[in-house]
Amino acid sequence: MKLIIAKDEHEFDVMAAWEIIGQMLRKPDSVIGLSTGQTTKNMHAIVSDIYRQYPFDTSRVTLFNVDELTNLPRSYAGCCYTMIAEQIARPLQIPDERFIMPQTISEDYEAECRNFQKALEERGGIDLQMLGLGYNGHIGINQPGTPFGSETWVSPMDPIFEERVRRETGVGPEHELGGLTLGIRTIMHARHIVLIAKGGHKADMVRQMLKGPVTEDIPASVLQLHPNCTFLLDADAAQYVTDLA
Ligand code: GLP
Repeated sequence: MKLIIAKDEHEFDVMAAWEIIGQMLRKPDSVIGLSTGQTTKNMHAIVSDIYRQYPFDTSRVTLFNVDELTNLPRSYAGCCYTMIAEQIARPLQIPDERFIMPQTISEDYEAECRNFQKALEERGGIDLQMLGLGYNGHIGINQPGTPFGSETWVSPMDPIFEERVRRETGVGPEHELGGLTLGIRTIMHARHIVLIAKGGHKADMVRQMLKGPVTEDIPASVLQLHPNCTFLLDADAAQYVTDLA
């Protein structure tokens, strides 16, 4: 396990951004998985900023997001497609055919899942997967209890997130919402994973992820078993695990 502790949030954002840029420079045809949320917003802005100032070759890079909301139009600002497109894919001029995302609205989500996973496999598999850490230990949208053997699937949202999405969109309970996500097994096949977490509110979950047992109750704990996973934390998120660094 490789554990990196940044001294503050800014250093964290810059180090996380360079994980992505470094991957693109080392392997210009990389397949890179991203993740949305508060943790990754600044990091995407830094990558985009550096690209604007010092353009590098992105013509062969494939980008995707680890998960996507289902049953909501892409016009909803909270859809992963929309966030990733605006925050990083468009600023980096990633061609549409190399920005791989499932549809948010589909008659056949099983086919969406299969096609999403297949598209990544056809490009040689995932070189780098950036992963945020959910408050309950979820990775992607794989909630506690998800089997470690899961492939790409549509998971229920966690209740707190679902409540927020319904409030923001006005979508009522008669519409089922979910999250199409790479499964745990799919994520574990990535050649390199960088788990990123910042802020004191993540500290206890970081401790459980790194020091607790490997259990399906804490999906992120499976990363202890990945042969090439980097855990990048800021000092606040790392407060209970400094002895591991
Ligand atoms: C959502 C996303 C996850 C992300 C997590 C962390 O659940 N589906 O992919 O890792 O949020 O969010 P934040 O960075 O806002 O804490």
